Amino acid sequence: MVLSKKAKQISTSLTLDITAKAKKMKAEGIDVIGFGAGEPDFNTPKNIREAAIKAINGGMTKYTAASGIIELKQSIIRKLAKDNNLTYVPSQIIVSTGAKQCLANVFQAILNPGDEVLIGAPYWVSYPELVKLADGKPVYVESREDNQFKLTIDDLNKSITSKSKAIVLNSPNNPTGTVYSREELMKIADFAKINDLIIISDEIYEKLLYGSTAHISIASLSEDAYIRTIVINGVSKAYAMTGWRIGYAAGCTEVISLMSNIQSHTTSNPNSIAQYASVEALNGEQEDIGEMIVQFKLRRDYMVEKINSIHNLSCLKPEGAFYVMVNIDDLLNKSVNGKVIKNSIDFSDFLLEEEKVAVVPGIAFGADNFIRLSYATSMENIKNGLDRIARFTNNIC
Ligand SMILES: Cc1ncc(COP(=O)(O)O)c(C=O)c1O
Repeated sequence: MVLSKKAKQISTSLTLDITAKAKKMKAEGIDVIGFGAGEPDFNTPKNIREAAIKAINGGMTKYTAASGIIELKQSIIRKLAKDNNLTYVPSQIIVSTGAKQCLANVFQAILNPGDEVLIGAPYWVSYPELVKLADGKPVYVESREDNQFKLTIDDLNKSITSKSKAIVLNSPNNPTGTVYSREELMKIADFAKINDLIIISDEIYEKLLYGSTAHISIASLSEDAYIRTIVINGVSKAYAMTGWRIGYAAGCTEVISLMSNIQSHTTSNPNSIAQYASVEALNGEQEDIGEMIVQFKLRRDYMVEKINSIHNLSCLKPEGAFYVMVNIDDLLNKSVNGKVIKNSIDFSDFLLEEEKVAVVPGIAFGADNFIRLSYATSMENIKNGLDRIARFTNNIC
């Protein structure tokens, strides 16, 4: 039987593979420490959980409008005005089953076969696959660690062709933690204007910031940037709500209504109860975010210092999100217990075998001389896990 050629091009998620492997080892009673987590290790705040219970008991358990309930759209509009200085009306907002579905919808809505989408590398694993699913072509633009993994206009210019349709911007960034400044965003907005590109601005880590750089939405920089940007955001990371599956997008009515049509035939509305809970997340008290950031910052500081004290490993100090990209370049083509470490997958596999530590190989993000560690895990795990990593690197020769 000939199955879909398009589906066969889609890779499995290496991040999920490594998590599954670590979970299996744990289930077998092995003491594994996981640095793969892509979600806060905190519980969803109480006021949000209670709003969900109220929604269930109040019978808010039926289909809603496919693009989301008006109460949530209004809360999103208020949030975007207050935090991001952006003005929208409800027809410019769609609520989806996670930011991931917003991204899937937007690529389906804007791309024609062969259209190219510029994606900075290292990149979040799903961007290229979502572009391919929408018949587009991902074009990777390498960023350099010595430029804090920021895209430069020179590099972007080298990648532009007559088929370039859009650029994906992700600040704060997964996996690098990089946060773009206003000046840097202005340059990218100019580049998009000159080349008439749609900007997909994934701002899902907006609230998780630890450095001096504030989060700025590129859409807020000018009238032109506002018109050509689709802002993607959601409640998953800021409110520890990954399992609730609520994300949203804001942009011009034409694109948003195409996204809504697509969504109405694929999944219909996102979960009704989670939508009511998200109204509370956005409108209710925001104190829990502050507490989460304090913990993440302590862990980041410990992790960065420890990694840079380990011989042959190094990392930058990320300013946002909850990941650290660790440079393993000096350890490639060396051996551990007679096994040669040829790439980031070997490094991660051998580390799991030898020391029972699960990390994500950088190749998953298009950066084979790195591994990614998440600090969305307890300080105890971080200390213990990094001690094991130090021991592992000591045995490499
Ligand atoms: C950069 C980035 N964008 C989007 C998402 C998807 O978030 P959601 O859980 O809202 O689908 C993630 C989740 O890991 C992410 O890291």
